[in-house]
Amino acid sequence: MKKLFLVLVLASNLLIAQRNVSIIPQPVSLQINQGAFVIDNSTAVKFNTADKELKLAVNFFSAAIRNISGKTLLLNDVAKNNIVFKIAKTNGIGDEGYTLNVSPSSITIVANTKAGVIYGIQSLLQTLPAIRTNEVLQVPCMSITDFPRFKYRGMHLDVSRHFFSPEFVKEYINLLASYKMNTFHWHLVDDQGWRIEIKKYPLLTSVGAWRVDQTDKVWASRPQAKTGEAATYGGYYTQEQIKDIIKYAAERNVTIIPEIEMPGHVASAIASYPALSCTQQQQLPLTGGNYSGMSSNYCAGNDSVFTFLENVLTEVIALFPSKYIHIGGDEVEKGPWKVCPKCQTRIKSSHLENEDGLQSYFIKRIEKFINSKNRKIIGWDEILEGGLAPEATVMSWRGEAGGIEAAKAHHDVIMTPGSPVYFDHYQAGPEGEPLAIGGMNTLKKVYDYEPIPKELNAAEAKYVLGAQANLWAEYITTAEQVEYMVLPRMLALAEVVWSPKENKNWENFNERLKNHFKAFGQRGLHYSLGNFTVSIKPSSQNGRLFVDLSTEILNAAIYYTTDGTEPTLSSNIYAIPIEINASLLLIASTILNGQIMGVKAARQNFVMHKAIGKNVTYTNPLSRYYQADGPNSLTDGVRGTAAVGKYWHGFNGDDLIAIIDMGEEKNIQNIAIGCLQNYNDWIFLPQSVKFETSNDGNVFTEIKTVNNPIDINTKSVMFDFKTDFPILSVRYIRVTAKNNLCPPDHNGAGKPAWIFADEIVVE
Ligand code: ACM
Ligand code: ZN
Repeated sequence: MKKLFLVLVLASNLLIAQRNVSIIPQPVSLQINQGAFVIDNSTAVKFNTADKELKLAVNFFSAAIRNISGKTLLLNDVAKNNIVFKIAKTNGIGDEGYTLNVSPSSITIVANTKAGVIYGIQSLLQTLPAIRTNEVLQVPCMSITDFPRFKYRGMHLDVSRHFFSPEFVKEYINLLASYKMNTFHWHLVDDQGWRIEIKKYPLLTSVGAWRVDQTDKVWASRPQAKTGEAATYGGYYTQEQIKDIIKYAAERNVTIIPEIEMPGHVASAIASYPALSCTQQQQLPLTGGNYSGMSSNYCAGNDSVFTFLENVLTEVIALFPSKYIHIGGDEVEKGPWKVCPKCQTRIKSSHLENEDGLQSYFIKRIEKFINSKNRKIIGWDEILEGGLAPEATVMSWRGEAGGIEAAKAHHDVIMTPGSPVYFDHYQAGPEGEPLAIGGMNTLKKVYDYEPIPKELNAAEAKYVLGAQANLWAEYITTAEQVEYMVLPRMLALAEVVWSPKENKNWENFNERLKNHFKAFGQRGLHYSLGNFTVSIKPSSQNGRLFVDLSTEILNAAIYYTTDGTEPTLSSNIYAIPIEINASLLLIASTILNGQIMGVKAARQNFVMHKAIGKNVTYTNPLSRYYQADGPNSLTDGVRGTAAVGKYWHGFNGDDLIAIIDMGEEKNIQNIAIGCLQNYNDWIFLPQSVKFETSNDGNVFTEIKTVNNPIDINTKSVMFDFKTDFPILSVRYIRVTAKNNLCPPDHNGAGKPAWIFADEIVVE
């Protein structure tokens, strides 16, 4: 293929052009020339009317021009100037690429397919006003050659946890299409709502799509429905509405992949048809995150479940032209299968090893059916457990490990790792942001994402079809909030999956983003201005503790204080890493153009004590998910904050047993350990903490056991367990924090909790 270069001509007489050409995702090659093409009443669109596909593209373009200007373009007429659309064999740009050439007398878009023409149109539209205007429509003269890096460029939307109207689904599709995303993953089925009309099983929507309305309460703390309460929250898409949405998407080159979850996450189907579960017991539709006593799996031992699913899938396949049908497969809680006689019989009769084997059996059986209809399955990475179905494509969401494993086994992969492409996570703050499920995926983190893991060689990398952002809706109750979570992060992802890696440039992206922000504002779309919260990163060098401050906001300064006051314009300006040599509270703000930005300043506590830098060993293993910044996080002087993912060491179900070696005998008179409780995340304060000391590391003497004084139902709290004693000369300290069980009314009632600890302070 001919090598293409990014050429950006920035001559001073091209100011208008500069302002208008802010295309996202960045094209492969773009050259801006002098002059402009004016779209007016004597502009005609020229195309081969015999080509039905091209006609669809022309209709799309003409409608867009009518929307912003009120003008109706002439079609194939004699005109002063022409906009020419052509499908013609063009080398080097593939199925979705295009060339776009603008001169004062003509605009020409050439592509191999309608998809390419549509993308040429999308680039062209990004140079024009975003809303209805009387402005002269001027397109800067330019020359673009463009094609995508990845063939799968996806955006997901969970319409089960909260329902979004057909009109909004179209708006969402339109938005993703305008940034050249080509796949809409429609999560139509989950525990809290069945959202697709299935003619053969009307209860799926008359029962399964409706629940008792508790939208006013946070997802995880919604009480379950009681018999007799009216189920008024919900909705579903009729097959006619779905056909209309599929057509709308196809006009924009967006393929819709429907997700019909199985075998877990189907409490909605079970509420409709209880015979589908292992217990076959009646249950009401879930209202939120409280699953206590509810079934949410299909019975894998019952053949009539497969008949049901084949009937459902037959209707789904008849509706959706997509090559792929997503069958879910994630987060199956296999406990119910362990105690179900039918499931256990299936394990024996089909010579399966265990319940993982049963999950694999389930998916393979469904795959066979879907393949028989000439379609392919996609599943979440759990479908690897117990053996991957032969033709399956894997969506890697629990990090990239599943994707790497699948690619090495020569299966296609779509990368959707929680970090950084779960757009239900915070993108800023989190203080001052709308409540989100947790996590933090900032715009820059998304922009910096590389979908090809370094673990894959060039041949294996070819199995990575692309990437997708997922938008789960437990905490997203309105269309406005969907917009806010997606904008502008989707634009960063669009550049990740479309633009050549070497064309990516964070500063330039931010420059181009300004025009898009303006357009969002004009179109009344909700969006995030970016993460103004200063990032505070401690690092130790040769036993000294330093702290780095940074902001993602271009051309911004950071002001900070260490005396506990809020930063002002007369506070210290951050220049180089700050050395921390006393206990203090650091507070920092981003300042842009003389204004303090963001809702709240970032703050971090540092504590100086005798165990700083000392070695900590654990008897029970630390969770691989919560390792903070390394093995000695409990003695680094950096205190855990309200953000769960930061600075805390997590233990899942086990007691925390930590031994600190002070290196030599030291005089000490108090020991404390900080712990976190976050009820909704199953993180509880330990039942008790025992403090012991030793001088040989073998025989320990107890100083004190401190019981937890805090109410176990407290939502969120940080608490220091501590003990004071007369001065002792001590070499080793052992701290044992006893893990708790989740309390009776909790979603995980009776199940092991997490302990989150940070900093063992020794003085
Ligand atoms: C998932 O986030 N459970 C796929
Ligand atoms: Zn069963």
